[in-house]
Amino acid sequence: MIKAAITATGGYVPKDILTNQDLEKMVDTTDEWITSRTGIKERRILKNLEFSDMGAAAVNMILEKRGISPLEIDMIICCTITGDMIFPASACIIADKTGMKNAWGYDLSAACSGFLFGLETGSKMIESGKYKKVIVLGGDRMSSIIDYTDRNTCIIFGDGLGGVLLEPTEENEGIMDSVLHVDGSGRAFLHQKAGGSSMPPTQATIDQRLHYVYQEGQTVYKFAVTNMTEVSRQIMDRNNLKAEDIAWLVPHQANKRIIDATADRMGIGPDRVMLNIMRYGNTTNGTLPLCLWEWENQMKKGDNIILSAFGGGFTWGSIWIKWAYDTK
Ligand code: UT7
Repeated sequence: MIKAAITATGGYVPKDILTNQDLEKMVDTTDEWITSRTGIKERRILKNLEFSDMGAAAVNMILEKRGISPLEIDMIICCTITGDMIFPASACIIADKTGMKNAWGYDLSAACSGFLFGLETGSKMIESGKYKKVIVLGGDRMSSIIDYTDRNTCIIFGDGLGGVLLEPTEENEGIMDSVLHVDGSGRAFLHQKAGGSSMPPTQATIDQRLHYVYQEGQTVYKFAVTNMTEVSRQIMDRNNLKAEDIAWLVPHQANKRIIDATADRMGIGPDRVMLNIMRYGNTTNGTLPLCLWEWENQMKKGDNIILSAFGGGFTWGSIWIKWAYDTK
C-alpha cells in the first residue's frame, strides 16, 4: 500500500523583528505581561515583499535540498488566510514564481489548522497513486490583517511560512493517521468581519477597523486547551502510542500555556516539544511547518511525531507522522 512521506522541508521567516519592547511603545502592554501570558518575546514582520515570495523561497529550498526540478512537481497546496490577493490563489502565483509549469494546485483556508488539513489532503493525493510529488505550504502574513492599536491581538501574531514535499513510499512510514474537526459555531469568537462577500470593503468598514482580526481570547483559549489536548490524546490512544513512543510533539504555537497543557496531557516532557513561539509568535498556518523545518536535523527515520493544532473556524486536529529520513 502506498503511503505519503515527507522527504524535504523548507521555510522562510522575514528578517524584520518586532519585539515586546517595540510593542510597549505602540500599545498599553508590557514585556512581562506578554511573556507570562503567551511565551512570546518577538515576532517577524514581512516588509517590501509579498506573501508569495515567502512561499517561493520555501519551495526553492525544498527543490534544492531534494535536488529536483520545479518541472517535477505535480501539485501545490498553499494553506493560508492571507494570500497575496483574494483571487487568484497564491498557489498559482507561487507556482509561477518558481517555474512549476507542470503543477496544479489551490489555496486551502482553515486558519491555524490549515497545514494539518493540507497535509491530510496532500497525502491522499499521493496515496491515490496519481501524484508523485506534492508540495504543501503553510504560512501567513498576519501583519496585513492585524490592528496595531489593539493590544488583545497585536502582541500575538507574526509572519512566516514553511512547507514540505510529499512523495510515495512503500514502507510503513510517513503520514500514518489523522483526527480532524471543524465547528463553525466557533466563528463568533475568532474572525475578520469585513472584506468577504458578506461585508465587502467600504469606507465605513475601513473607518470602523473591521478588516482586522477579531478574537475573544479567553473563549478561544478554553476551546483550544480542551480540544487540542483531546485530539492529541485520542490519536495516541487509537494507535496504541505510549508517551515514551513519541519522539516529538509539534504543537500549534498560539500560546505557550496551551502547548504546556497539551504536552502534559500526553505525558511528554518539554525536551520533546518543538517550541519557537518566543521567536516567531503565532504565524497561523506557518507554525507547524516552520517547526518541522527548524527541527529537521534533529528528527530521525522512524521517529513518531505528533502534530496538533487549534484555530479559527473553529478548526482543530492532530496528525501522526512516522518520520521517513535522516538528514545527515
Ligand atoms: O491561533 C488561533 C487560536 N488562538 C488562540 O489559541 C489564542 C487563545 N487565547 C490566548 O492565548 C489568550 O486568551 C490571550 C493571550 C489572547 C489573552 O490572555 P488571557 O490570559 O486570556 O487574558 P484576557 O484576555 O483574559 O485578559 C486579562 C487582562 C484584561 O484586563 P482586565 O479586564 O482583567 O483588567 C485585559 O484587558 O489582561 C488585559 N490585557 C492586556 N494587558 C496587557 C489584554 N491584552 C493585554 C496586553 N497587555 N497585551
